[in-house]
Amino acid sequence: MVAKVIDGRWIAKEIREDVAKQVSKVKKEYGFVPNIATVRVGSTPESDIYLNLRDKACEETGIFSCHVDLPENASEEEVVDAVKNLNEDDDVHGVLIQLPLPSHISHDTLISILHPKKDVEGLHPVNLGKTLLGEEDIVPITPLSVITILDYEKTKYEGKDVVIVNHSNIVGKPLSALFLNRNCSVCVCHVYTKDLKKYTRNADILVTAAGVPRLITKNHVKKGVFVLDVGIVKTKEGVCGDVDFSSVKEIAGKITPVPGGVGPVTVACSLKNMLKTFMKCVGEKHR
Ligand SMILES: NC(=O)c1ccc[n+]([C@@H]2O[C@H](COP(=O)([O-])OP(=O)(O)OC[C@H]3O[C@@H](n4cnc5c(N)ncnc54)[C@H](OP(=O)(O)O)[C@@H]3O)[C@@H](O)[C@H]2O)c1
Repeated sequence: MVAKVIDGRWIAKEIREDVAKQVSKVKKEYGFVPNIATVRVGSTPESDIYLNLRDKACEETGIFSCHVDLPENASEEEVVDAVKNLNEDDDVHGVLIQLPLPSHISHDTLISILHPKKDVEGLHPVNLGKTLLGEEDIVPITPLSVITILDYEKTKYEGKDVVIVNHSNIVGKPLSALFLNRNCSVCVCHVYTKDLKKYTRNADILVTAAGVPRLITKNHVKKGVFVLDVGIVKTKEGVCGDVDFSSVKEIAGKITPVPGGVGPVTVACSLKNMLKTFMKCVGEKHR
């Protein structure tokens, strides 16, 4: 068996086209477009790449994006104040906090003071709680992109065995809730998991986001599995994911490549969430 290779760039293009249509509709209705701010403290080459991709996607779809740049040595109080100002600013309809942050700034603190209706990343405790309760509203972006790809492939969820290699607050935990909401049986693995293979070989759907090149080999998967590789690692040979693509492709039923798989869909899903926060900020006011 040779797996179907999922074209994330094509899915992302479809989403962008749909978002662009909706942006032009809201522009006609309200006379302005979503204005989304990204708070960035210092910068790294990786975060700059991601930010540029998102800005370009915003521009293409008619969303206005701006940056609030603070220096690497800004105090947590200064960053908190910047986020509070954005909460108060009626002209800002959504906020993202760019990772990584310097070690003296707590991501959890910034997310928790952000107004839930402006939380583009869906990580505020209120939005995460809704995801967990099965009342999905603003869903964390990377988990949303995984579900979006599975939906594009018309995946039937009920009763599927799902294994997620990642238990971060941004990826693994909310993603496990999304699968549980869809009546899958979910197993979440991490660095303390003894014998990873024992779990991954059982998966009908395997999502990996460890950031470890070639963590998942042909010995980790069963025939026909849908493999979604969220990992993005820069190596000397170029960008790769967690999956040993060439060998796993021979066994899997469907597989996302890196690059060109989950990554572009994640950027596109951030646009979908921007529209959601815009409607919460503006739509409610005009109702
Ligand atoms: N494609 C996208 O759109 C997208 C979006 C976000 C992130 N990413 C990529 O996804 C990866 C993870 O991102 P993150 O922010 O979630 O990172 P993270 O917080 O470091 O999470 C990595 C997870 O993988 C687990 N892990 C690491 N090594 C492992 C191993 N050898 N065996 C089993 N589990 C292992 C970790 O376990 P512990 O928690 O126990 O350490 C943790 O749960 C990175 O490569 C990142 O670039 C991609």
